Amino acid sequence: MPDSFEPLSSLDEWEDDLLRRYPARDTFRDYAAEARPGVREFYRLNHQYQTFEFGQQKRQQYLPLAKTQMGVWQAMEYLNTLVDDSDPDIDLPQIEHLLQTAEAIRSNNQPRWFILTGLIHDLGKILCLWGEPQWAVVGDTFPVGCKFSDRIVFHEAFSDNPDSTNERYQSDLGIYSPHCGLDQVNLSWGHDEYLYHVVKNYLPEPALNMIRYHSCYPVHREGAYGFLMNEHDHEMMKWVNAFNQYDLYTKRDERMDVAGLRPFYQQLIDEYFPASLNW
Ligand SMILES: [Fe+2]
Ligand SMILES: [Fe+2]
Repeated sequence: MPDSFEPLSSLDEWEDDLLRRYPARDTFRDYAAEARPGVREFYRLNHQYQTFEFGQQKRQQYLPLAKTQMGVWQAMEYLNTLVDDSDPDIDLPQIEHLLQTAEAIRSNNQPRWFILTGLIHDLGKILCLWGEPQWAVVGDTFPVGCKFSDRIVFHEAFSDNPDSTNERYQSDLGIYSPHCGLDQVNLSWGHDEYLYHVVKNYLPEPALNMIRYHSCYPVHREGAYGFLMNEHDHEMMKWVNAFNQYDLYTKRDERMDVAGLRPFYQQLIDEYFPASLNW
């Protein structure tokens, strides 16, 4: 495992790189622009260390959900204590990204559960506060246990991943059967998968898919791994794509009135969640 070196100055740097790779329709795409060195190093670590076995270990460690108990708003405030090594004038506190996403969804008159999904979708990033390295919390997710698609960003770096030389994992299907469905597939570990398990008893299925697959750019943006997906996954990806528009392209420089928005969101949280959740 790597030491405590963290290549990103803030978790937002990965999201900024997503905007470089997937610019909004009406913005100029600079094809020559390259990922910043810290971001490249981040992808390199992520691709090297996210093995099938690593994901299994993290599932065993976290999915008993026995770490702590917190309500949703409390978790938002807790996430907000994450202090990145970043410029506070450029990077918004995490809670504001959550509120911006939710407010953008709300302003389009989407269902209440969709707004709530925007509000909570990145709460899994609290893994960083429990000592998990950046590469094990954020970054594009991808299936493990089968061949790494060349449609995954910076896929060359998988040559350093031990799974690349494991025969069981090197066919297209690897350990999976054709069209088995994404819920049968182990994705690389991160904030999506963790939060999905925390909230899976409380939200409708499209919301759960948005949460679980929102970082799975190889699937929802690149169209890779169709041979693992079933009809239902394709239906659900429409929701994931709808969500992704808000997650990626919500304006970032507009400050949110956190205290003023809280009553609306607390009521929405209480509609779907108990006062305390297991994390
Ligand atoms: Fe996210
Ligand atoms: Fe997000």
